[in-house]
Amino acid sequence: MSSAKTLLFTLSAVAVTAVAACGGGADKAPASDAMATPAAAPAAEPAAVASVNMDSIGKEVYVTCTTCHQANGQGVPNTYPPLAGSDIVAGDANRVIAIVLHGLMGPVKVNGKEYNNVMSPWGAAFNDTQVAAVVTYVRTQWGNTASAVTAADVAKVRAATSSRATMWTWDELTKATF
Ligand code: HEC
Repeated sequence: MSSAKTLLFTLSAVAVTAVAACGGGADKAPASDAMATPAAAPAAEPAAVASVNMDSIGKEVYVTCTTCHQANGQGVPNTYPPLAGSDIVAGDANRVIAIVLHGLMGPVKVNGKEYNNVMSPWGAAFNDTQVAAVVTYVRTQWGNTASAVTAADVAKVRAATSSRATMWTWDELTKATF
């Protein structure tokens, strides 16, 4: 009797081991399925990137400007001038393009308020489409209603100012022709 009982325990121990091994195998199958899913997702991404429009490019490039001009375009008092409601942003589009391409330094008045600081150039970091998109973005955000600019406009200003190696001063910029 006692030996039959021992045999029964042994059998059930084998059964438990078998179920555990089986369970382990079953766990692995969904794991490899899950790995196949993320691999498929990036493949769809290039098509989405290719279809982005100027609005989203402008918004994306503007992230670079937010450090100083802030997400709401208000700037920082006495340090970084506002783009929202700025008379310069609303003015000559070529001038705004030229500021983004080559930067600006020294005294400049925005809406009658003087700033005297330094903005480094972005012309090497962004292509004509990106500059056009960000200039259009700042000219049409936060209640600004100035006209859009195109990559061709930027290409023209870039070509006309290609020999520039320094940031603009406001004085130079008002005398420049593009
Ligand atoms: C590191 C800080 C900084 C960053 C980043 C920056 N700017 Fe500026 N920006 C300035 C400063 C400072 C001035 C004023 C320069 C002066 O005092 O001569 C200025 C001036 C301007 C002006 C003219 C003045 C006005 O307020 O209308 C425009 C337009 C402008 N920036 C647009 C941009 C855009 C677009 C970007 C992003 C591509 C950008 N800036 C990124 C600091 C910055």
